[in-house]
Amino acid sequence: MRRKIGFVVLLLVVLAGLASAQNTFDDEGHAWWQHAVFYEIYPRSFADSNNDGLGDLPGITSKLDYLHWLGVDAIWIAPMFPSPHVDWGYDVSDYYSVDPDYGTLKDMDELLSQSKRQNVRVLLDFVLTYTSDQNKWFQEAKSSRTNPKRDWYIWRDGKGPQQPPNNWTSLFGGSAWQYDSATTQWYYHYFYPPQPNLNWRSPEVEKNMFDVTRWWYKRGVAGFRLDAVDVMFVDSQFRDNPVVGSEKNAFGDPVEREIYDKNQPELHGILQRLRKVADEYNAVLIGETWTSDINQLKRYYGEHNDEVNMPMDFMFTTINKLSPEDFRRQIAWVDSSGGWPVYVLSNHDIRRVYDRYGDGKHDDQIAKLMASLYLTLRGTAVMYYGEEIGMQNNDPKRPEDVKDSMGKLGWPKEKGRDGERTPMQWNAEVNAGFSAATPWLPVGERYKTYNVETEKKNPNSILNYYRQLLAMRHTNKALLEGSYTALNENDPSVLSYMRGYKGQNVIVILNMSAVTQKVSLDLASKGLRVRFAKTLLSSFDAPDQVSPASISIEPFGAWIGQTE
Ligand code: NOJ
Repeated sequence: MRRKIGFVVLLLVVLAGLASAQNTFDDEGHAWWQHAVFYEIYPRSFADSNNDGLGDLPGITSKLDYLHWLGVDAIWIAPMFPSPHVDWGYDVSDYYSVDPDYGTLKDMDELLSQSKRQNVRVLLDFVLTYTSDQNKWFQEAKSSRTNPKRDWYIWRDGKGPQQPPNNWTSLFGGSAWQYDSATTQWYYHYFYPPQPNLNWRSPEVEKNMFDVTRWWYKRGVAGFRLDAVDVMFVDSQFRDNPVVGSEKNAFGDPVEREIYDKNQPELHGILQRLRKVADEYNAVLIGETWTSDINQLKRYYGEHNDEVNMPMDFMFTTINKLSPEDFRRQIAWVDSSGGWPVYVLSNHDIRRVYDRYGDGKHDDQIAKLMASLYLTLRGTAVMYYGEEIGMQNNDPKRPEDVKDSMGKLGWPKEKGRDGERTPMQWNAEVNAGFSAATPWLPVGERYKTYNVETEKKNPNSILNYYRQLLAMRHTNKALLEGSYTALNENDPSVLSYMRGYKGQNVIVILNMSAVTQKVSLDLASKGLRVRFAKTLLSSFDAPDQVSPASISIEPFGAWIGQTE
């Protein structure tokens, strides 16, 4: 009996220890994800283990040592669930499995267990706003008007014969309503017709979708990126959106002010409850949170920081030119929002940094400049695979080559997103070392120079610059914890700021112009009197020590230093 009690006590002590270790916060009250660097992987394009031209989960597992070497703490894998791939995985037919293109559940378990060994956490993409029309839930819902799952989706009668219920349009063109002749009603889809929106006003939907997250958390997943949260709810009265002017968009549809099909207040209740479930597992929620102003973004954190831990600021990604003024304004907004900032530069929907900011002459410098920006700000950075080697967009040249339905429907005005989804470039060999078979999308044209193996050997490569940045970010207290203070706010060409923590100050100077800039930092107005600063990292040949009163920064150069 005594031995039994002893065992139970020991077990309780171990469990309590585990629980508290899981919920560790540092001295500043920061959780693991606030200091982590996240890395998005588009599974179809990362690494192909079985040479069928498609990336897969064992491929990702085989590259964990690379990610660890680079300094990545967590990966977010774009959807790998079974899917008919109308939207390359963002049309889920089964939330409890793995698409055969990517492997099996066993492969996922292997990835989860190997990633633990490499200290890399794994997040999945939770496509929670809509399912595939091949999902058995939708198949049941559409089987009859009285099916118990009918109201898991959004069904309405038309306004009249062949007339959809209202004027809402799909993001991918045409009406957002699809007629179902068998049950003579229309169903709602914000994206493609084969992506019917779930009805989140149904408690059954909430219960079943929350259960999906529990199931994956229990398997070892560290969180989710929440897809398309802004369109989870639509107006309960289904009012028409106001039409703006007479212009048409790329799909030939009227331009609408999306006030009734986006950002409805009910979504915040769901997010709070979803967060509660995530908190039980010490998991983190990243939001695909498109917003048009800072107040909208603030709302996603929740009034009590109890909704999305990391709503990504996409307003930052819409600054498409190297404008210190625009970046300064956006950073100041986000930094003072009260939530933990989350910075992203590109992803599977957003053109690559190289193409958005490159000038054709200083592209490598610009890639390092932008890396220095989002990886030194106060907040968490979410990288996109390939940015660390300076991958470029490889856009389709002919309509028949387009794989993304958005490009198929919108060609030639809208060429789609294939260009930013091309295979990861691992080496200078055939297909950039991604696969021995022809890859599903053509590899980038300059892969022989821009690839992991070649860049690893070059100390001045974009890859080695990223690696140094990430290492610095993990160890420098001012970068991890420090406050953000803008410097020289009227400078039209150079973006400068300081990160300060308990008397330690890191200064970042980013020359966003094509000429050398002489910068004289006004530190006195920030209460700092320093004669010298030590260079920590720079993208050009900078002296080890500089005077903040006069620093010369090369065209598109980045300098990061510490005051002494
Ligand atoms: C958001 C995803 O990021 C995007 O790739 C996808 O096309 C849309 N959801 C619609 O499925």
